[in-house]
Amino acid sequence: MKPTGSTEVCHDDKDAIIHVDCVSHRYPDGTQGIHNMCFSVYPREIVALCGPNGAGKSTLIEHLNGLMMPDIGGVRVFGEDICKDNLSKVRRLVGLVFQDADSQLFSPTVLEDVMFGPLNLGLSQEEARDRAERALDVVGITDMDRIPHNLSGGQKRLVAIAGVLAMQPRILAVDEPTGDLDPSNARKMELLLASLRDDHGLSVVIALHDMDMAARIADRVCIVKQGGIIAEGTPKDILYNEALLASAGLELPTVARIFKGLGLENEGVELPLTVKQLLHLLEKDGLLRPGDRVRNDE
Ligand SMILES: Nc1ncnc2c1ncn2[C@@H]1O[C@H](COP(=O)(O)OP(=O)(O)O)[C@@H](O)[C@H]1O
Ligand SMILES: [Mg+2]
Repeated sequence: MKPTGSTEVCHDDKDAIIHVDCVSHRYPDGTQGIHNMCFSVYPREIVALCGPNGAGKSTLIEHLNGLMMPDIGGVRVFGEDICKDNLSKVRRLVGLVFQDADSQLFSPTVLEDVMFGPLNLGLSQEEARDRAERALDVVGITDMDRIPHNLSGGQKRLVAIAGVLAMQPRILAVDEPTGDLDPSNARKMELLLASLRDDHGLSVVIALHDMDMAARIADRVCIVKQGGIIAEGTPKDILYNEALLASAGLELPTVARIFKGLGLENEGVELPLTVKQLLHLLEKDGLLRPGDRVRNDE
């Protein structure tokens, strides 16, 4: 399905590093996972796939590295159609982190787990260890001798991300990365994902239904509904469109709700996406009483 009512984010199709071309996939029990799905990923962006449970986000993500193959349509990664012959190359380029990190960890120690991929690529023990240590450093895991099974949900996901980063991918796709994290670890995860884009040049695809997180982190937002993308655009265009979000069973981000609630939408000011931006605006526009101080240290 081509997104209808989509708003402009200036991307040229030829720049796409992943292109999902009208893909349909039906599960063996007959359930349609995605239908006529079109989706692209561009260099060095964070793209949020927002949709309610069962919309098709995970099914789409699993098509990005050939873990699932389309029944109809095709997926191109750096210009090559994914097929049996290039699967290992595609999986080096596109790393997936599942919602259930448990399913991704299987070695006796954290270090061995993260070394597994590089060793599988044929690297020496020394090279694999070096890559694993660097990847664990990026995600901030220092205790490499722990048994993955005993880690907390958030730590497991960080180790799973390190395992993927050790393969030096160009694209990371993460499925609901903060669902089971406490607010402080969720914030760390957000910072990590932003730093993978900013400091490591990766493109990051995130499936989520936390609209606040999408507002804080995404460069582009795609709304997924019933197996297709019904709209895509900049966070400001999509995340202030209450009717669109409601039609997909989603809600406005908190900042947008407050902004609209204050009746500021038609004031011709820049739409805020973060609490910091909102507070800045309130302060600047004099909506607070003189002398009020805003805590703007987010
Ligand atoms: N293993 C499976 N077998 C059958 N149907 C599935 C399976 N996994 C997902 N589905 C169905 O495919 C559709 C899309 O699911 P999914 O991609 O998991 O959505 P989301 O990740 O957005 O919650 C839903 O109708 C879901 O019930
Ligand atoms: Mg899912």
